[in-house]
Amino acid sequence: MKEINPFQALDKIPYPLVIITAGDPEKPGRRGGMTAAWFTRVSWDPPLVAVSVAPSRYTYELIKEYKAFAVHVVSKDMEKLAIGVFGSKSGRNMDKFKAINMEPLKAKAVLAPIIPNAPVILECKVIAEYSTGDHVIFIGEVVAAYTGSTANPMAWLGNKGIEVK
Ligand SMILES: Cc1cc2nc3c(=O)[nH]c(=O)nc-3n(C[C@H](O)[C@H](O)[C@H](O)COP(=O)(O)O)c2cc1C
Repeated sequence: MKEINPFQALDKIPYPLVIITAGDPEKPGRRGGMTAAWFTRVSWDPPLVAVSVAPSRYTYELIKEYKAFAVHVVSKDMEKLAIGVFGSKSGRNMDKFKAINMEPLKAKAVLAPIIPNAPVILECKVIAEYSTGDHVIFIGEVVAAYTGSTANPMAWLGNKGIEVK
């Protein structure tokens, strides 16, 4: 066994690759989204998920205000979008949906924008939040779910996406 530092160790674990969206789907500038790898399921019944969001993200502000978010599992054909626009630009200065020329759908059970072609889409109502370290964990109850494609999901390992087959 060889000791490695905790940061290196945590980079060797695969995490799911998702895009979290929030805000009013019909209001450019008041809607947005970000790529996240720190996402997990946390309760079986009720079905709860958690996402860890840095308070500096514009998406953080939108989740706080609208008390809801949508989760989109990323597939290979969405990877560029996830790493590029959603994972590297701030929605504070731009409407990401306009930038990619996509009009998001309206979530049905919460107020949130939906990217329709993701393999798994979850509509989540925020039921709790915890500030921890340099991030805030939002716990969301999954109140509706959809599948928008049969493509394989992707995971994030180290600094790259891998297709899970
Ligand atoms: C693969 C990947 C995973 C990421 N995971 C997270 C995450 O779990 N939590 C987080 O706060 N930011 C994460 N980020 C960073 C945000 O996606 C990025 O800062 C984004 O531009 C924030 O956009 P916003 O300011 O419009 O919310 C990740 C970025 C990438 C590329």
